[in-house]
Amino acid sequence: MSDKVVLAYSGGLDTSVAIKWLQEKYNLDVIAVNIDVGNERDFSSVRQKALDVGAIKSLVIDGKELFVTYFIMPALQADALYEGQYPLATALSRPLMAKLLVDTAVAEGAVAVAHGCTGKGNDQVRFDVSINALAPDLKIIAPARKWGMTREETIAYAQKHAIPVPVTASSPYSIDENLWGKSIECGVLEDPWTEPPDDVYTWTRSPDQAPDKPQYVEIGFEKGIPVTVDGRKLDGVALIQMMNELAGQHGVGRIDHIENRVVGIKSREIYEAPAATVLLQAHQALEAMTMSKDQLRFKQKVAVEYADLIFNGLWFSQLNRDLSAYIISSQRYVTGTVRIKLFKGHSTIAGRKSPKSLYTLGLATYDKGDEFDQSAAEGFIHLWGLPVRTQAQLQLLGDKEGPLSIMGPEETEED
Ligand code: ARG
Repeated sequence: MSDKVVLAYSGGLDTSVAIKWLQEKYNLDVIAVNIDVGNERDFSSVRQKALDVGAIKSLVIDGKELFVTYFIMPALQADALYEGQYPLATALSRPLMAKLLVDTAVAEGAVAVAHGCTGKGNDQVRFDVSINALAPDLKIIAPARKWGMTREETIAYAQKHAIPVPVTASSPYSIDENLWGKSIECGVLEDPWTEPPDDVYTWTRSPDQAPDKPQYVEIGFEKGIPVTVDGRKLDGVALIQMMNELAGQHGVGRIDHIENRVVGIKSREIYEAPAATVLLQAHQALEAMTMSKDQLRFKQKVAVEYADLIFNGLWFSQLNRDLSAYIISSQRYVTGTVRIKLFKGHSTIAGRKSPKSLYTLGLATYDKGDEFDQSAAEGFIHLWGLPVRTQAQLQLLGDKEGPLSIMGPEETEED
């Protein structure tokens, strides 16, 4: 009897070839595991395909609820966007997959876990670091990082072993999708000067083909988690699916990002993330109403750290727990409703309200009912400006050369 390996199986060419390759090269029996994180493929045919190619067992695990509850919602509460652009769909899914692969390996008595990542990307880092953290004794095999086959050679290997080569193998793009978004790489997209051709996009309508009438949608949040759409209660999976559909129809959620990979490469990434785009925007609008200026400033820093941690594959770390504790605490009063307008590729905040709002009309208004004591402003400004006045008098006034000159740099002859 051979040892067993649990393979993260997508149904694509590389992981299908990996089933045969793991048998040939390492004499391992392959248990294929396909994890459903909302990528809407035909899971029963993917399951069967693994068996046809030679897996001894093929499992499909529905990870959608776990993904939403433990990965997407915390990232949304944190306002996590990598480099200010990428909502981290793929990056968030990898630690969940690692956990489910490890659990399967333990249950099946496997000695190793395998995944289809190449040696150039971020996903190998996320898988390997996570699997190692959870199960230091499991071996990790990444066939595509080892075998050194070109695309053509992989196809030839598949044909030699009667592995069906899908027509989509001719698709010029490398795609990954789940509930929180879709990523598209390769082909013409590798030229950062080239605008993505329309066939890249499958989740979002082109903004110029989007409906001519704007659509309004109201998203209700409880403690930073979206729970209703237009007053109707929805579970997280359904809510995100609905927002992907709705915002996608209006061409919202296209992202073009020159991204810094963990392994040092800059890459050009196209994303479609309609639900993530709208929900992050609505969430931030509600935070602006319900959190103080200082809280908002500090939370932005945490958001950057949290996004980096997710991107860099460090999910299973104490830093994650530390930051999560802060993020959850920060969401205590982030409850209320945000009204969003979807129109021709744009989503804009049309309104927001909260029972815990810090916005106070009596303080803000220029109309009748003003409660703000304007006479207090003078004394406040006198003290507020004290250090600036002091410094101006003692150092800056009359100093025409130094870089701190309040008059700006001296004009040179040539000017
Ligand atoms: N650049 C994105 C990330 O690192 C997307 C990766 C997509 N992965 C893939 N195997 N196609 O999260």
